[in-house]
Amino acid sequence: MAEGETITGNRALQIEEPLLFEMDAPGQCGVDLPDSGPFEDRLGGLERRNPVGLPGLSEPRVIRHFTRLSQKNYAIDAGIFPLGSCTMKHNPRLNERLARLPGFAQLHPMQPESTVQGALALIDTLADWLRTLTGMPAVAMSPAAGAHGELCGTMVIRAALDARGEKRSTVLVPDSAHGTNPATAAMCGYAVEPIPSNARGRVDLALLKERLDDDVAAFMLTNPSTCGLFEDEILEQAEAVHAAGAYFYCDGANFNAIAGRVRPGDLGIDCMHLNLHKTFSTPHGGGGPGSGPVMLSEALAPFAPLPWLVHGAEGLRLVERAEGEAARAIGRLKSFHGQFGMFVRALAYMMSHGGDGIRQASEDAVLSANYVLAGLEDVMSLSYPGPCMHEMLFDDRFLKGTGIATLDFAKAMIDEGLHPMTVYFPLVVHGAMLIEPTESESRQSLDVFIRVMRALAERAKGGDTAWFTGAPRLAPRRRLDETTAARQPVLRWLPEEASAEKAAE
Ligand SMILES: Cc1ncc(COP(=O)(O)O)c(C=O)c1O
Repeated sequence: MAEGETITGNRALQIEEPLLFEMDAPGQCGVDLPDSGPFEDRLGGLERRNPVGLPGLSEPRVIRHFTRLSQKNYAIDAGIFPLGSCTMKHNPRLNERLARLPGFAQLHPMQPESTVQGALALIDTLADWLRTLTGMPAVAMSPAAGAHGELCGTMVIRAALDARGEKRSTVLVPDSAHGTNPATAAMCGYAVEPIPSNARGRVDLALLKERLDDDVAAFMLTNPSTCGLFEDEILEQAEAVHAAGAYFYCDGANFNAIAGRVRPGDLGIDCMHLNLHKTFSTPHGGGGPGSGPVMLSEALAPFAPLPWLVHGAEGLRLVERAEGEAARAIGRLKSFHGQFGMFVRALAYMMSHGGDGIRQASEDAVLSANYVLAGLEDVMSLSYPGPCMHEMLFDDRFLKGTGIATLDFAKAMIDEGLHPMTVYFPLVVHGAMLIEPTESESRQSLDVFIRVMRALAERAKGGDTAWFTGAPRLAPRRRLDETTAARQPVLRWLPEEASAEKAAE
């Protein structure tokens, strides 16, 4: 047996096993209930006639299976998770406790309004915090995540332009933007034009001004940007955008860097989504859950999606139809009121931190990032010199001539117990490595991160190419075929396919 191989295929206490369906032992069962007798007649002929198709497994087997799976996962509760642009920070358990209170967790969205006044008050209070923190007068609470918020904001802008009787066809997006920005604009029927970054990694103001005209519906900026930089000419950008009669959209995914310090409404932003799941810490990743409320200016507020939460004579009520006061609303983007569980968590986070605590968290996020930057800048290649906001951008120049790519470097981090940073995003630099440590990492944890990254950078420059191209060696899985996984995902076990495969063997 080669070194590193084992008799069972297990790696230390990481145990490999087939899927539950493949371990099916007909007749086994996790519960031992007395026979309830024939169902006939009790369901009026609707009773199931065939087996349900679930695998037969004992309770310990099921529990071990899911526990083993959970041990193969990496999570913010396991260690640093420095994915740039994702704000993977600690999720305080207080938030979870509150979201699980029966009065919140057991609500049904179709309950009469009079019985859910507490829940509506919670949404109203959260909306108030968001308005205060952003300095923007209105908010649409229902979007389910950042990208959904972008869709909401762009639809609102389109409705406002329609109401002005203007057909503008272009949305301008900086070249460093997250892919969801241009995708959203295109989905809403706009032509997307990139605005190049300048040598300082900021939007090139002169090029933006040159491109703005009466065909531009909106400029979609991310601030702080995905390069981890504050757009220091944002006031001039806002002035130019408004002078052209366009709207100024802000992607607020990176609000964690400035919450409590800067109010986007003061910067001339007309519309901005927030990622509650990032800035206000709810467990996220792997596709959900999220919450992406959209802040709106006075001019855009009348077009906000339904439902609207308003104060009435008998308490809070939901406006569900596009009529009367809500006649210009763009309609619904989501069933019911939005991600209520996320609202509870976000408000718990805000109230337990207070305004000062939120500002402190942002400052600490920026401090952590600059601490890591200072610890790495002499061994890695910082894309734009100078301090950063909550995340820092390196490129692959320091790997030049080594035969090691950004991906190899990221895989080698896994063997050291570090979750890799975001790689190959943003697209404005070659082989991007975007690191966001967040405020919830201790100095000790940042020091370990810096020590490992420095050692890896030195090892790479020392010419140990095979170490990187062969990584990871110690993870439960080595390199996966990510392209096939993305292009032909197999998301469900199907008995027919499994038996066809067996027959072919
Ligand atoms: C800058 C930026 N904009 C938008 C999004 C989309 O947010 P969501 O994943 O919540 O849809 C992300 C997500 O990572 C992001 O980083």
